[in-house]
Amino acid sequence: MPADRFEPDAYLREETYTQTRAPVEYASTLIPEAYRSPVFFEAERQRVFSTGWVAVGHVSDIPVSGAVRTVTVAGQSVIVVRDRAGELRAFHNVCRHRASRLVTEQSCQLKRFRCPYHSWAYALDGTLLGAPLFEGSDIPDDQRAIFDTSRLPAFDKRNYGLLPVHVAAWANLVFVSLEPEPMPLTAWLGDLPERLAGYRLDEMTVVADRSYDIAANWKLIAENFMEYYHLPWVHPELVKVSRVEDHYRFQGPGLYTGMSTSPISRDTESGWTALTEAPHLADSDAVSGRFIWILPNLALSVLPNHVFTVLATPMAHDRTVERTTIALPPHTADDPSIAPALDELAAFWDHVNGEDIAIVERVQEGISSEAYTGGRMCFRFEEPLHRFQNMLIDRMVGLERIPAGDGDDPMFASPAADATGSQTAARSRSSAASRSSMSSMPVE
Ligand code: FES
Ligand SMILES: [Fe+2]
Repeated sequence: MPADRFEPDAYLREETYTQTRAPVEYASTLIPEAYRSPVFFEAERQRVFSTGWVAVGHVSDIPVSGAVRTVTVAGQSVIVVRDRAGELRAFHNVCRHRASRLVTEQSCQLKRFRCPYHSWAYALDGTLLGAPLFEGSDIPDDQRAIFDTSRLPAFDKRNYGLLPVHVAAWANLVFVSLEPEPMPLTAWLGDLPERLAGYRLDEMTVVADRSYDIAANWKLIAENFMEYYHLPWVHPELVKVSRVEDHYRFQGPGLYTGMSTSPISRDTESGWTALTEAPHLADSDAVSGRFIWILPNLALSVLPNHVFTVLATPMAHDRTVERTTIALPPHTADDPSIAPALDELAAFWDHVNGEDIAIVERVQEGISSEAYTGGRMCFRFEEPLHRFQNMLIDRMVGLERIPAGDGDDPMFASPAADATGSQTAARSRSSAASRSSMSSMPVE
């Protein structure tokens, strides 16, 4: 493994990232240590994944009271549960007595949490219900002397509930924040809920669920998702339905990157396009694909007839577990006759995702080269990378900042895209330089 060129504290300082802070036309990509250094990975856990909002799954993972899911956030095990009142709750997965892990199953149904070590019990809302023998009342008469706690300071169960974690839902997704006082999830998402409101994501049903273990840093997966520069070479099939020249940026204020394919082309040879569009879509949504990466770890590919989701969980600087799902709107989710089309759709995404995994694993190998110090971004196609890397740098150096939207630069505006969401100040760029480069790009 190549040596870090920086001492650990440097990862928390602005001057380390000068090459990426420049306007996109001049910027170089993030320092390679960000992808290959265990020291950077640890700092990133603290600064990026332990603050703000991290996607952990679907609302349907925790459908009813007592449904429990364990997830990993910043290397920490977290319990997400629906309590008796039907509210989502999240807790650190540790007993308040002597720290046994409380839940080991990834998914289960419980009436209460009971620690296997000394049997402390907690309600689904985290309240400590009982600590056997602790107060004396449960102790058999002939053993009272041994368990006499009368000389101990008073013990108040109210002080020993499970340690809470913030949890919130948007669309059909669940997010948690380890931060004691995070900004509201709505502020994190910015105008995205408004942009995607027409798709009614909260009504969608997850119909396919698959995981992958990837030998690459999570940011390589993110960055690969948010640029369409690689499509002709890595995804010859995908470009039949999602042509490079039909891509536009789709970014308002919020901690996300976005692009839109409009119109989404139709490849009549692909059986999965037989799934019908959701009937309620507005004109623009009905002919567009929206490809959104929400900082730090969630991708949404929103198509008129389904949504493909990628949830990335970093395990190490060079390893990421990825969960992918397909969700359908109610009119097709409830229709058994769509099974063959759904199989084709799942196979299609598995194929495309496999192409992406192969290329990002190859980048992980390349980025360990000591000679590489960062590369140039193709600003016509890779501006979302620049936005993403700058959002990440903001978190690393402790800046709470939400990027503005793209503005009205005609180069990036889609003729068929909705102008929903507030479009704020345009980012600085040389339009003339951008256009001349665009016209020389080999996109056909
Ligand atoms: S560690 Fe949980 S009851 Fe003792
Ligand atoms: Fe790709």
